[in-house]
Amino acid sequence: MNVKDKVVVVTGGADGIGAALCRRFAREGAKAVIVVDRNGEGAKAVAAGIGGEAVTLDVSDGEAMAAMVADIEARHGGIDLFCSNAGIGDGDPEKDNAASSPDAVWQRAWNVNVMAHVHAARAAIPGMRARGGGYILNTVSAAGLLSQIGGAVYSTTKHAAVGFAESLAITHGDQGIKVSILCPQGVDTAMLRQGDAASQPQNLDGVLTPDEVAESVVQGLAEEKFLILPHPVVLTYMQRKTGDYDRWLGGMRRLRAKMMGG
Ligand SMILES: NC(=O)c1ccc[n+]([C@@H]2O[C@H](COP(=O)([O-])OP(=O)(O)OC[C@H]3O[C@@H](n4cnc5c(N)ncnc54)[C@H](O)[C@@H]3O)[C@@H](O)[C@H]2O)c1
Repeated sequence: MNVKDKVVVVTGGADGIGAALCRRFAREGAKAVIVVDRNGEGAKAVAAGIGGEAVTLDVSDGEAMAAMVADIEARHGGIDLFCSNAGIGDGDPEKDNAASSPDAVWQRAWNVNVMAHVHAARAAIPGMRARGGGYILNTVSAAGLLSQIGGAVYSTTKHAAVGFAESLAITHGDQGIKVSILCPQGVDTAMLRQGDAASQPQNLDGVLTPDEVAESVVQGLAEEKFLILPHPVVLTYMQRKTGDYDRWLGGMRRLRAKMMGG
């Protein structure tokens, strides 16, 4: 897909990767860019800079998502590209206990990192099917394909997000719906800067700027590839993982030990 003259929605558009996507899509000549975020002021600032529209919304609220999609469809005639990008990350509170996050943290991450993709697809796909096609881009993470050391909640919910995107592609591919997942490693955003994230191993392969990720997205959308990997080495790691799971786990354990200074 080329986003020129397209109606594009980006959740988590107030900051980081989402804001870079909004700006890039506007530069590519999108007809409308709708910047969606729970941070309404941030969404308005990004929208103002690109002549877009801002919507204040919590992506974990399925009813609000459905109402927003209906409103955009009524005003613009349809959504061509829905980027479900908002996500949250929490590290394990006890570094030597993968089950240490409280249930409330697991639930919140499930609601944002997984259910928001479900809400978006449920709301956007009927209109796309009726119009003969559309594109869903879900921001996941390399942590959904490999794993994030010290981030069991993040890794697990991002793996689930990959699973849902596969189901979307398999179920709706023959209905003209294109699906891609965006799976970067480290990207220089507020999320990466929080906590001890700066020392994470996913940053060893280089931290990209949000603009560099947006460039990968524009290329990936043009190629209509399922897997968009701004850090291409992630594909090598995936191949190593599926080639010999136990060996890969051993490597991850060694990396973890190194990170912990042990
Ligand atoms: N930064 C990285 O290193 C990195 C790497 C891989 C994947 N990702 C993924 O990229 C996506 C964007 O992350 P980012 O790094 O730009 O983070 P960010 O924190 O800079 O931006 C995330 C945006 O999402 C919004 N948001 C969060 N929860 C929301 C909710 N419930 N409803 C509406 N908006 C909400 C925030 O207000 C913020 O504007 C996430 O899905 C993240 O998991 C980030």
